[in-house]
Amino acid sequence: MSKNLLSALFGAAIAALALSPSVYAEGQELAEMHAEMDGCEACHADGEPSEDGEHEFEQCQSCHGALEEMDAVHQSHDGMLMCADCHMPHDSNVGDKPTCDSCHDDGRTAESASK
Ligand code: HEC
Ligand code: HEC
Ligand code: HEC
Ligand code: HEC
Repeated sequence: MSKNLLSALFGAAIAALALSPSVYAEGQELAEMHAEMDGCEACHADGEPSEDGEHEFEQCQSCHGALEEMDAVHQSHDGMLMCADCHMPHDSNVGDKPTCDSCHDDGRTAESASK
């Protein structure tokens, strides 16, 4: 294998790693991380936020699947919440785990809900 081809392959491997956001973008704003992959249009029609958040909710589900298909924490909110009620794209970061106490005052946690 030629030296050039080897270094091209090495470069491609590094580029692929850099595109793996859950490993490399910890602490980056959630919306920013998504926009780097697919632009503001990944979530917003024509890049503009909708009035009611429905379009954005549909976009989340088109990539991640619906609440009912996810783990117990997500399933309990099927038909109740939109993704952005807990994962606020412009107000939380990659790696953040939403907490429960902004809405429930009985001390429940994601761990207690999965038991
Ligand atoms: C991962 C999906 C996602 C991406 C990507 C995204 N947004 Fe948003 N954005 C939302 C959601 C959901 C809301 C409404 C709830 C909120 O404010 O968090 C919102 C709200 C907004 C608002 C209303 C004001 C505000 O901050 O609440 C503006 C303006 C906005 N986005 C602009 C942008 C721009 C510009 C980009 C590209 C740089 C972008 N958004 C990328 C999901 C996204
Ligand atoms: C009730 C609040 C809540 C809602 C609504 C919610 N999530 Fe979550 N999400 C969480 C919590 C808490 C975690 C971390 C613990 C877990 O996975 O159960 C999480 C984890 C995740 C993860 C994994 C990130 C990681 O930590 O590895 C993804 C992806 C995700 N949610 C996407 C979504 C999408 C897409 C929707 C809408 C279809 C959604 N969530 C709605 C609370 C919520
Ligand atoms: C165009 C496809 C696409 C759309 C639309 C999209 N996501 Fe994502 N999202 C991804 C990919 C790809 C990743 C990174 C791989 C992973 O962790 O699953 C990701 C990662 C995440 C994570 C995990 C971040 C972490 O902590 O590791 C959350 C939470 C999340 N998205 C929520 C949302 C929410 C909320 C919306 C809608 C407002 C949304 N996504 C819309 C593709 C998308
Ligand atoms: C943005 C607000 C919000 C957040 C954050 C939130 N929930 Fe909920 N949750 C609701 C609403 C609204 C309902 C439906 C009404 C009800 O039953 O209280 C609900 C219902 C539930 C239910 C089914 C009914 C019940 O009360 O047992 C479970 C289980 C649940 N949530 C667990 C959690 C857990 C665990 C977390 C944290 C990871 C969490 N929720 C975070 C708003 C929220």
